[in-house]
Amino acid sequence: MKIAMVTGGGSGMGRSICLQLAQRGDAVAVVDWDGDAAESAADEIRSEGGRAVAFKTDVSDRAQVDTTVGKIRAELGPIGVLATSAGITDFTPFLEITTEAWQKMMDVNLTGTFHCVQSVIPDMIEAGWGRIILISSSSAQRGGPRMVHYASSKGGVFALTKSLALEFGPQGITVNNIAPSSIETPMHAAGRAEGRLSSVEEASARIPVRRLGTGDDIAAAAMFLRSDEASYFTGQLMGVNGGSYI
Ligand SMILES: NC(=O)c1ccc[n+]([C@@H]2O[C@H](COP(=O)([O-])OP(=O)(O)OC[C@H]3O[C@@H](n4cnc5c(N)ncnc54)[C@H](O)[C@@H]3O)[C@@H](O)[C@H]2O)c1
Repeated sequence: MKIAMVTGGGSGMGRSICLQLAQRGDAVAVVDWDGDAAESAADEIRSEGGRAVAFKTDVSDRAQVDTTVGKIRAELGPIGVLATSAGITDFTPFLEITTEAWQKMMDVNLTGTFHCVQSVIPDMIEAGWGRIILISSSSAQRGGPRMVHYASSKGGVFALTKSLALEFGPQGITVNNIAPSSIETPMHAAGRAEGRLSSVEEASARIPVRRLGTGDDIAAAAMFLRSDEASYFTGQLMGVNGGSYI
C-alpha cells in the first residue's frame, strides 16, 4: 500500500487512475481544480471501500500545490506515487496564439507538472522508492496542427520525464510518461462538440484497433508503471494509442 497523489483526478483518465490505484490498495489523494469533481471521485472510491481524500488545487499555483502536498502528508502520509493528468487543451492556428494563451498552456501542462514533482519528490528520496507517471500526449510525438502551444507543453513534459529519470534513478525512483491519443473523456467529447475533433466513428475508422481508448486503458498502463515489477522501466514514453503512432 502506498500513498498516491493524482492530479486531474476528478475527470477522464485521471479519475480512472485514481479508481484503479484504490482498487489495488493505495490510499489516493484526488487533486483537481474542480473541487466538486475531486470530491465525487473520492466519494466513488470510498463507496467501493477504498481510501481517498479530495483536494481542490490549481497545479499551476505553486503555493496551492505545496499546501496540498503538506495536507496529504498530514492526512495520509508520505507520498510514494505521483500521477499527473491535470491538463488543458486548445485549438488555435499558430499565428493567432497570443502570448497569454501560450503562457497559460505552459503554466498548467508543463509548469504544473514541475510544481507537483518538485513538491512531492522529497518523500520518495527519503523512502528510497517512488513512482512518477506523467501524462503527455501523442502530439508530443507527432506534432499537432492548431495545437502548437499544447504540443510544445507536452513535449516539455516528455523531456522532463527523461531528465528526471536520469537524475533520480539512483534513488529508486522511476519516472515514465504515458502519451495517450484519442481517449474517450470529457476533454475529447468537448473537442468533438466544438467541431475541433473528428466524430467517434471517423476517428475509430482511422485507429488500427478501430475504437477510441478509454480511461481504463490509460489506467492499465499506469498500474504497470506503478508496480514494484516495473523497477527497471524508467525514462520511457508509453504510447497508448490503439496503434495510431508506431
Ligand atoms: N483525451 C485525450 O484524447 C487525450 C489525448 C492526449 C493527451 N491527453 C491528456 O491527458 C490528460 C487528461 O486528459 P482527459 O482527457 O482525462 O481530460 P479531462 O478534461 O477529462 O480531465 C482533466 C482534468 O484536469 C483538471 N485540470 C485542468 N487544469 C487543472 C489545473 N490547473 N489544476 C488542477 N486540475 C486541473 C480538470 O478539472 C479535469 O478534471 C491531459 O493532460 C490531456 O492533455 C488527453
